[in-house]
Amino acid sequence: MDLRALPKAELHLHIEGTFEPEAIFAMAERNGVTLKYPNVEALRHAYAFTDPQSFLDCRYDCMRVLQKEEDFYELTAAYLLRAHGQNVRHAEIFFDPQAHTQRGVSFHVVVDGIRAAMREAERERGITSHLILCFLRDRPVQSARTTLEEALAYGEGIVGVGLDSAERGNPPSKFSGVFDQARAEGFLAVAHAGEEGPPAYIWEALDLLKVRRIDHGVACMQDGALVQRLVRQQTPLTVCPLSNLRLRVVDTLADHPLKAMLEAGLCATVNSDDPAYFGGYVTENYDAVTRALLLDGDAVITLAKNSFQASFLDDATKRRHLLDIEQWAALNVPKRTPSA
Ligand code: ADE
Ligand code: ZN
Repeated sequence: MDLRALPKAELHLHIEGTFEPEAIFAMAERNGVTLKYPNVEALRHAYAFTDPQSFLDCRYDCMRVLQKEEDFYELTAAYLLRAHGQNVRHAEIFFDPQAHTQRGVSFHVVVDGIRAAMREAERERGITSHLILCFLRDRPVQSARTTLEEALAYGEGIVGVGLDSAERGNPPSKFSGVFDQARAEGFLAVAHAGEEGPPAYIWEALDLLKVRRIDHGVACMQDGALVQRLVRQQTPLTVCPLSNLRLRVVDTLADHPLKAMLEAGLCATVNSDDPAYFGGYVTENYDAVTRALLLDGDAVITLAKNSFQASFLDDATKRRHLLDIEQWAALNVPKRTPSA
């Protein structure tokens, strides 16, 4: 199956995580920034992460080269061009404003650059996208509050709030007040939970942050009552297989719980998280899990359908994309003949 052509939505994608080493070095030179690494090869070498924290440290260092509106535009335009090439029809894009504002880049510079590329990609290529602001959970709550105020002052253009960065020791409960305020202002809520953190963090994200989706969420498989609840509510989980492998959440992809999650009736989706750092964009994630877990055509179709069902698109648009998947399936997935 050529999964590149499968119509899909991407719901767990950090725009700063699409920064390819070559682009990092080109921008560093343009902006006069000295990186910790002497060249592209050395930087790629540093991508042998031992855990989520070692990845985050590297990623935050690379981000220093993003300084001007055109830098954020370029980063986002490059991602959307690649995504379009993989038949991503719709992307819900995370960004980390605090990682930029804390080093003196204004909120407006970041969001204006990203949104200019989003508008252009929709106009020129028909790929739609939404923007979701993530609070850094390893920063003080007050910093998240200030960031929410900046988003409110910015106005239209950001559909939701999320929660990312180092999970352990930073439970969702720390941010329940900020999320209350964000939801009251009309933002849709999502949160990273159950990547390296325990199932208890997923419960908190549901009960305290009242999220519409859980990002990662693979730890739910350790808690039967939690799985039952997620299945009953059909709360989507934005799973990122290659990220889980590279950050050592699983030892091998054959150990990944995605197949078991689908079999349990969970609304799981496949996403790339930080593709430039983890060795693959969304199609490579579909390909890798399909091979490692021997997923059949029906499972792949379910994943693609889930990606639109779980999106923040309106129902009529979802239906249109679901029909396109049916058409793709009719041409590409062999019909199962009932066994005698
Ligand atoms: N920010 C970007 N990628 C992340 C991940 N995998 N976990 C937590 N925060 C992140
Ligand atoms: Zn993530």
